[in-house]
Amino acid sequence: MKIGLLGCGTVGSGVVEIIEKLKGSLEIQRILVKSPEDCKDARYTCNYADLVNDPEIDIIVEVMGGLHPAREYILEALTKGKHVVSANKAVIAANFKEFVETAKAHHCYFLIEASTGGGIPWIKNLQRYARIDDIFEITGIFNGTTNYILDQMHKSGADFDAVLKEAQKLGYAEYDPSADIDGIDVQNKAIISAGIAHNTYVYKEEVPVFGIRDLTCTDIDYFHRKKKVCKLLAVIRCLNDELAVYVEPTLLNENSLEANVPDNFNICSLSGVTIGDLKFYGQGAGKLPTANAVVQDLLDIASDEAKDYEIVLDKTLKVNNENETHAY
Ligand code: HSE
Repeated sequence: MKIGLLGCGTVGSGVVEIIEKLKGSLEIQRILVKSPEDCKDARYTCNYADLVNDPEIDIIVEVMGGLHPAREYILEALTKGKHVVSANKAVIAANFKEFVETAKAHHCYFLIEASTGGGIPWIKNLQRYARIDDIFEITGIFNGTTNYILDQMHKSGADFDAVLKEAQKLGYAEYDPSADIDGIDVQNKAIISAGIAHNTYVYKEEVPVFGIRDLTCTDIDYFHRKKKVCKLLAVIRCLNDELAVYVEPTLLNENSLEANVPDNFNICSLSGVTIGDLKFYGQGAGKLPTANAVVQDLLDIASDEAKDYEIVLDKTLKVNNENETHAY
């Protein structure tokens, strides 16, 4: 299988590293980078046409991030009959239905394991359980940056702004950290998880989001005295074909599993009528764990196991958050 890689940043370079170590059937044929000065390797190009029009390339791996031109590149690849693997939760959440339908129309695979929960095998497991069970609740701690910030505020007593600056210095938080701290990153992951579990497309406007920006060290200290830990949680509930989907800082008992999820780790939980409660725990971000999930998708395409993981978003469910009690 020959691969065209879009983006060679943190995750992209991890994909290259893992594939080179594998010495298997996967081969990276071309790599799209931003500027020609980066084209030191003969495989590098700054022209997408070199990838999408290359008849030898079977799969496009999109790890470039952002909404544009990622959306257009994914659609063009699928339309030209190339399978797509993407880790880009923002572009997937914004265009989920369109990507899934385009993939179907052109008999291509569209796999997104790395988009939610990083290295945790969450998406395909969620699909497996949703096949035979009613998943009535999903909760997720899907964001490492906010785990780090909330944990540091708790440990050091420092205020939000000071901890955020430190997180940026250490490279945990982005230069523009708003997607993480305002809960948008988790909102995207909630839209993707709800889609996978309930075969439906949930629009951004239907998912209320509260981030952690307004939490003070006085709040955190008060929670601590009450033996509570605050985490940014995604919640998806489904009852009688009605969905509730929201993201908010939530107080958890300090001894609970979720309260003790450290920086960079995520925990994704599902509850089904027959399976009961399941939790998936692991590294939710980072170069190699996320790249590992991308390569798992590539191997599933190469072995045709991907046919068991076709995403279908053909159900229309009412989204209603009115009956939820919000802790924040
Ligand atoms: N910004 C995300 C996080 C990266 O902090 O968890 C993984 O999606």
